[in-house]
Amino acid sequence: MGMMSSAYSAGLLVLVLSGVAQAFMPVGGGTSTHATITGNAVLSKITEVCRAVAESEGREFNPTGSSAEELLRACLGTATGEVSAAKFRTALNQIYMQNGLVDRDLANSPAHHFSNEAFVQARTLITEGTVSVKANVRKENFQAARETLGRVCHTLQDFYSHSNWVELGNRGPYMNLFRQDLPIDNVADIDTPTCNDCASGTCPNPLLPDILTHKKLTSGYMGLLSATKPKGKCSHGGASDMTSTQVPRGGISKDERRPDNAVLHDAAVAVATQATLELLEDIRGAAGNKEFLRLMGIARSSVLCFVIDTTGSMADDIAEAKRVANNIIDSKKGTVDEPSEYILVQFNDPKFGPLVRTTDPEVMKEKISALGANGGGDTPEMCLSGLQLALTGAPPSSQIYIFTDAPAKDMHLEKTIIALIRSTKSTVNIFMTATKRTSKYSGRIPRADFRVYYDMALASGGQAIEVSKSSLPQATEIIVDSSTSALVTILQRARNPGKVETFPFLLDESVSNVTLYITGTAVAFTLQSPTGVSQGSTETTGPLGTINTVGNLKRVRLNTLNQTGLWEIHMNSGNAYTVKVTAQSTVTFVYDFVETFKGPHPGYGVIDGRPLAGSPTKLLLTLTGRHGPESLKVMEAALVEVSGSGVANGTVEEMGGGNFLVSVNSAPAGEFVVLLKGKDVSTSSRFQRQTTTQMSVTPVSVKVVADNNMEPGKSLDIPFTISTSVPRTKFNIRARNDKDFPMTYPNSIVSGSRSTAEGTLAITAPTNTASGTDITLTIDVESDGTSDSNYAVVRLSVIKKVTDFTPPECNMFNINNSCPTDCRNASWHATVNMTDGNGTGVEKVWIQEGDVSHSANETEHGGVTVIQYFCQISCCTPNLKVSVTDKEGNVGTCFHSIRPTTTPVPFTTPNGGPPSLGLAVPLWICLLLSATAIV
Ligand SMILES: *[C@@H]1O[C@H](CO)[C@@H](O)[C@H](O)[C@H]1NC(C)=O
Ligand SMILES: *[C@@H]1O[C@H](CO)[C@@H](O)[C@H](O)[C@H]1NC(C)=O
Ligand SMILES: *[C@@H]1O[C@H](CO)[C@@H](O)[C@H](O)[C@H]1NC(C)=O
Ligand SMILES: *[C@@H]1O[C@H](CO)[C@@H](O)[C@H](O)[C@H]1NC(C)=O
Ligand SMILES: *[C@@H]1O[C@H](CO)[C@@H](O)[C@H](O)[C@H]1NC(C)=O
Ligand SMILES: *[C@@H]1O[C@H](CO)[C@@H](O)[C@H](O)[C@H]1NC(C)=O
Repeated sequence: MGMMSSAYSAGLLVLVLSGVAQAFMPVGGGTSTHATITGNAVLSKITEVCRAVAESEGREFNPTGSSAEELLRACLGTATGEVSAAKFRTALNQIYMQNGLVDRDLANSPAHHFSNEAFVQARTLITEGTVSVKANVRKENFQAARETLGRVCHTLQDFYSHSNWVELGNRGPYMNLFRQDLPIDNVADIDTPTCNDCASGTCPNPLLPDILTHKKLTSGYMGLLSATKPKGKCSHGGASDMTSTQVPRGGISKDERRPDNAVLHDAAVAVATQATLELLEDIRGAAGNKEFLRLMGIARSSVLCFVIDTTGSMADDIAEAKRVANNIIDSKKGTVDEPSEYILVQFNDPKFGPLVRTTDPEVMKEKISALGANGGGDTPEMCLSGLQLALTGAPPSSQIYIFTDAPAKDMHLEKTIIALIRSTKSTVNIFMTATKRTSKYSGRIPRADFRVYYDMALASGGQAIEVSKSSLPQATEIIVDSSTSALVTILQRARNPGKVETFPFLLDESVSNVTLYITGTAVAFTLQSPTGVSQGSTETTGPLGTINTVGNLKRVRLNTLNQTGLWEIHMNSGNAYTVKVTAQSTVTFVYDFVETFKGPHPGYGVIDGRPLAGSPTKLLLTLTGRHGPESLKVMEAALVEVSGSGVANGTVEEMGGGNFLVSVNSAPAGEFVVLLKGKDVSTSSRFQRQTTTQMSVTPVSVKVVADNNMEPGKSLDIPFTISTSVPRTKFNIRARNDKDFPMTYPNSIVSGSRSTAEGTLAITAPTNTASGTDITLTIDVESDGTSDSNYAVVRLSVIKKVTDFTPPECNMFNINNSCPTDCRNASWHATVNMTDGNGTGVEKVWIQEGDVSHSANETEHGGVTVIQYFCQISCCTPNLKVSVTDKEGNVGTCFHSIRPTTTPVPFTTPNGGPPSLGLAVPLWICLLLSATAIV
């Protein structure tokens, strides 16, 4: 390796410990949790990468404050329009939540926590996890990548808390934990005693002097179920560790900050943060800046996702989908509303798919114009199969649009689809165009045949629009409406049968482009403004707005005058109808249903099915607004039925950082959504927001604890546990996966007298499956007789075993670093040699920092291919950082800065790597999603 070449570079760290933490910790204590450590590292790395990207594009990077919202806006750097941070917050939560789940689901696995001296196994989790993250990023499976990243961070951070690394005097990360091919040296063997007895349980540094002088590595033994440990070994420590009462008593865990271990705890937190930064830098090195930022959730919110029926009669519809897509692509280009991703799935009979996913608008245009209508005949089509691909392939909370003119044939997928809708929180909108092509459907298709479409739309908060082919262009306006970076739902209700009823809704100062959608045949309504002005549904242009009617859809665009205040819509119809009020606003929230879990490190974990009936329903809400979460207060949070009148108020507990824990004692019986009323402190404006995905409680629970990674050709066992309050229940089980990989599992199991039943599902990825392929597995469970049901959604990744762990080499030389004071129009130069020696070969070279133009060539040198870059770097960008990856995702990095060093850097790195940014870590990031200390 060259002087500067290292995948890992340590840096300067400033850690802000927040007092908020204590308040969130019902058990334990201490101020730094996995969530704060991960959050600090993630935000600091995002800031660094955003700054590098901005510099290389020659634009300013000046976040107006330290909130995620302001960071996002500065990163996207688009001058016009409002950006919602909802998706960014969702992405961060995906990382933090998985991190905490390691304590819920894998508390008793020593390797996941670096306990019991399981160093080699624990490192394998880190290196294989990192390979998986990189492979998933490469295939743009960001959710799978985030979840694995969260887990890897947990194990990595645990090393510093659970081993004696800091007791040995180390203050930098242990780099060999990232390299499977390097040894883990000097581990105390099983017969070597490691600790002194500590009767009080809290002794400063109980390690034996011999261990310290010989620099032996050890970690604490943890016994949740048994007090046995090898003779003389250190314990983890604490009340839940049964081994800690066996001599040598006490423990060496630095999870909590106590008077006796404060210095070591702080050191462990600092190194764990540094190590997390190294891990993130390695992933960035493999992914490149742009993909790294997408992994972190820095992307424009809008995603365009079409699922299109391509059977013979669909030519007009396809033409319309094409027109809308092109219109959105062309009209939103360069704005914050420009979609960040395009997804296209076609379905026919019997074929469907594949999923086309691209960030390139031109590719989307091409793919969509290549669609042709043919085949299919008169039969219903594979709509749900196509939708399944879209739901699993699109980012969560996407708007999905289906174009079809026939009922679905694959009705057996209905439950899977509903589970995926609940799990992804995506919204499904359907354009159903009646066709004259069949005798069966002459004229209107009976509603019953389209029932599943109505149900899916309702369940997801979308609309089912029945429209003639000729009127389709008016109906597709709703796609343009919702292709925005800051869409919010203010109200959604459904009545079937219809009912005369008044629905109030509150519009706040932050909203714009308020639009009402009313579906139903022959529905009449009257709209009333806060000032008492009203407008009837027959008045197409009135004092309050304009009303367009197309098919069963009425769309009301409000005028912009006098909007703020309490509005009412009086519905006057006996026919089934839905009412939906949307707007654009940056004030919104994201949410997860959670459960509390106990154990050595209690906390909150996301539920991946429906919440349980009979116990309080808990949610974690994350509010986000233009000026960060501090400016928003929750006044009221409730679960409200969409189709009924049930409402259940929640009690709200503020967690800091924009997070709120809501607890609802008794959820409504029917399908409900979350209604939030709050106040923007900066404007004193009250606001109302509602979620779109319907949820309901159930007496059946399904729990799956899966290792997310599987190897091609090898079968993976996934154990699951089902329970209800009723003993000896028979459960019918149905599992599906979106890649159609073969699975075996019991079709039914009967619970025992303890009312739980256990089963195992085995899934196998074909041997030729590409690394980074993600699989979404859905397990539906229904109790025989009562039809009470629940589901679990599990994301798995296929990862080929990696054998090459040697990073490519990168070498920078011939550096000409003279730059004039006026940096404009001046440049400096450097030459970079890159090679992968005996490895799998150079795959990609990334310029990570610097406004660079380069020329390249490839030569043979001693039997090895050398790639040479001659770089010309703008003098306005004093840093040059180049990463080179091999085919396995190993990263070599070289760095040079011509910035004159003004201040001495406390932690210079042995390899001369760049100091990271001084992290002025914002307090909000102390997100504390799990009430765990570093565990
Ligand atoms: C929102 O309203 C503004 C002004 O009324 C308009 O220019 C803009 O196109 C609208 N945005 C959308 C997505 O309809
Ligand atoms: C808007 O408010 C002004 C002043 O309060 C009132 O005169 C006007 O009628 C209102 N217009 C509408 C459309 O509500
Ligand atoms: C829920 O809270 C609201 C506002 O605090 C109150 O008006 C309403 O009566 C409550 N509903 C129930 C069922 O407690
Ligand atoms: C860079 O690579 C070339 C071969 O392509 C070799 O001749 C040269 O010595 C290398 N320079 C350094 C500094 O590694
Ligand atoms: C290639 O592998 C051989 C044998 O393993 C080793 O001696 C040699 O140093 C390696 N070369 C490079 C460039 O890594
Ligand atoms: C490419 O190779 C030639 C010699 O073969 C060398 O002069 C030149 O500097 C090399 N590098 C680049 C980036 O063109």
